[in-house]
Amino acid sequence: MNIFEAIFSRRSVRKYVMEPLETELLEQLRKMIDNLSVLDSSCKVEFAIIDNLGKKSQAKGLLKADAPYYLAVYCEDTPIAYRSAGYAAEQLVLYLTTKEIGTCYLGSAKIGPREKNGLKQFLVISFGRAEGTLYRDMEEAHRMPLASLCTYKDEPGEYLKKILKAARMAPSSLNGQPWRFIVYADRVYVFMRKEAFPHPKLFTSMRQFDMGIMLCHIMLAAEEFWMNVETMTEEQYAKKNYKNGEYICTLVFNS
Ligand SMILES: Cc1cc2nc3c(=O)[nH]c(=O)nc-3n(C[C@H](O)[C@H](O)[C@H](O)COP(=O)(O)O)c2cc1C
Repeated sequence: MNIFEAIFSRRSVRKYVMEPLETELLEQLRKMIDNLSVLDSSCKVEFAIIDNLGKKSQAKGLLKADAPYYLAVYCEDTPIAYRSAGYAAEQLVLYLTTKEIGTCYLGSAKIGPREKNGLKQFLVISFGRAEGTLYRDMEEAHRMPLASLCTYKDEPGEYLKKILKAARMAPSSLNGQPWRFIVYADRVYVFMRKEAFPHPKLFTSMRQFDMGIMLCHIMLAAEEFWMNVETMTEEQYAKKNYKNGEYICTLVFNS
């Protein structure tokens, strides 16, 4: 399974075999951490691998899955930093999926050192060998249909359709799927759905993180089809106050 295929077969794993993983695999993961694609080069994202074998770490927070390992994610406190963190984290999650390792984002858990190189821990990701099934068929995933996520201004080409399918599969906090797209033949305007009433800050930060995960799927799918994707922020849209969504970026595709 390659990383693109992993997008379609990954599911969150919440039960793990409490056994160590191979040293080489953990070493590969460390190398991946040092070589991630970045969404915004001005945003620093740090990771720490936390060994929980023998339950040494002090997990805090609701909805935690007991796992042999956790990846702690550290970033700054800005919307673009949360997006960048999601973008980076999902590359690691999908990498682990290709290695037959289960993962689950744990938005409200804090484990291990709460700070790294001046960055605060935002969330953790549990990982390890799954107890039970690791993969699933894409049809089993609870995701909104593309018809509800996209407003089509042009008929997208074959590759752009596949890229949007990959975006749709992104995991999100509470499975909220906040992304919305306005689709033209060669470009996609990306929006984040607005909530009807105000939510706590953690909720909004988590949604930015979700958007980063989704943008990572787009980047990996574009790579799979040898398409260039340029990410732009268009000031005229960024300044505008939309009723139902917040403008995030414009993606321009060319092969
Ligand atoms: C940022 C983020 C935070 C999440 N937090 C939790 C959590 O605290 N507990 C949990 O069990 N699942 C959590 N999840 C997993 C989602 O519930 C899951 O991805 C979503 O329901 C879709 O299911 P799937 O990953 O199996 O496709 C989180 C996912 C994301 C992306």
